[in-house]
Amino acid sequence: MANSRNTQPIEPAIYAHSRSGRRGYLPPQPTVPAKPLDELLPASLRREKAPALPEVDLPTLARHYVRLSDLNHCIEKGFYPLGSCTMKYNPRIADLAAALPGVNRLHPFLPAKQLQPALKLLSELEHDLGELTGMDCFTLQPAAGAQGEFTAIKMIRAYHQAKGNPRKILLVADSAHGTNPASATMCSYEVVVVKSDERGNVDLDDLKAKLSEDVAAFMLTNPNTLGLFEENILEVARLVHSVGGQLYYDGANLNAILGRLRPGDMGFDAVHLNLHKTFGTPHGGGGPGAGPVGVREHLAKYLPRPTIEADDNGYRLEFDRPDSIGKLSAFWGHFLVNLRAWVYIRHLGLAGLRRVSEFAVLNANYLMVLLKEMLYLPFDRTCMHEFVLSASQVKEELGVATLDISKRLIDHGFHPPTNYFPLIVPEALMIEPTETESRETLEAFAEVLRTILEEAKTEPELLHNAPFNAPTRRVDEAQAVRDLNITYPE
Ligand SMILES: Cc1ncc(COP(=O)(O)O)c(C=O)c1O
Repeated sequence: MANSRNTQPIEPAIYAHSRSGRRGYLPPQPTVPAKPLDELLPASLRREKAPALPEVDLPTLARHYVRLSDLNHCIEKGFYPLGSCTMKYNPRIADLAAALPGVNRLHPFLPAKQLQPALKLLSELEHDLGELTGMDCFTLQPAAGAQGEFTAIKMIRAYHQAKGNPRKILLVADSAHGTNPASATMCSYEVVVVKSDERGNVDLDDLKAKLSEDVAAFMLTNPNTLGLFEENILEVARLVHSVGGQLYYDGANLNAILGRLRPGDMGFDAVHLNLHKTFGTPHGGGGPGAGPVGVREHLAKYLPRPTIEADDNGYRLEFDRPDSIGKLSAFWGHFLVNLRAWVYIRHLGLAGLRRVSEFAVLNANYLMVLLKEMLYLPFDRTCMHEFVLSASQVKEELGVATLDISKRLIDHGFHPPTNYFPLIVPEALMIEPTETESRETLEAFAEVLRTILEEAKTEPELLHNAPFNAPTRRVDEAQAVRDLNITYPE
């Protein structure tokens, strides 16, 4: 990645370190006679020249990747209060389990007989997620939250279709994550937005006005992306069901209610969870995730195939499901992410899971109280796992925007909060401390924000030009669109 002021690469590509003949690893000599190449691969499929792979010794290789990783901010380096994206410190025991050769070398084509422990584990995870959400059955196939939404909406569509009419409209809250309207659109629904009221709840009058027998479902997250618990959830569920609609729970934020409240008990018919937020896999790292979907009994027959079934002969994958929405991916989900969730649940137990939500909510409220005297809090209520501040007054009075504050936080070693989301709060700073941070870290963050807001008064240029200490200065965010160049600078 090039510095925006300096086109020199910060760390050259690995090829720049390559010297002919250097080796970092010598594979052991084979103990069986090598087969002639022609027997393995016909000449027509073989390349004529060896690929130009980099040739580097081990220290050079290690240093290259360490230097690259140093360019990143990560949870091991510092606080990462990225609201709605939950970058928390996950227990390493789940990673250790996922690194065991007995699990990470399992091949999905192995016959079910040899996959029994893995299928048992997946089946137990489905059961546990069902218990935690109040849903009757789960699929672990979706590979991300967004794919979970897509899966569940497809199932809801199949449910209405079986009654003779798939219906036309999906209602989405105005505070919804962008994936909600996207999933609705991908399932051929027209999206109609339901407003929030002045307390940050669903505006019941607006909901009533938009409900009709054309509505297939209402997609909602509770707590919503303002970090607020929907106070009228039972009434919302009653209203949606009164027109035959389904209530869909975007469960990306389950860490706020884990072990305490269940979407099924609030009246939701279908949920997806982000295992890569709540259940032990890091979120936001670009790595694999999992967005399992749980449903109530009336939607169960539409679950993607295969499902995991058990009988006296053990566990098996059941493909014969005539009403299923079909298969979602090549195999059946991200096994190692599901495994981490299984470990996480067993490692913490119900009491530990409850403490996750207690601390997620306690930390968020503590930080909110520290910060609300510095920046405007548009919905001044007890929050759940996150809260949203607005820098609109600072912008108006001092010309310093949310982005400037966030960039300056980088200079102080903090990852910025989520910016400009949810869309209903101007100059939004969405802050989620997560359950894993200490009181000292939260106080240090508050102190730094106080310093930055002081700088906004005395030296606003500092904020406009920040960051100064990061490997990349402020980038021209539109340039990638106007002048796309994704080659590595020489
Ligand atoms: C509230 C909410 N819903 C849905 C999603 C989508 O999840 P994913 O990024 O795994 O597709 C997110 C992602 O962070 C989210 O915060």
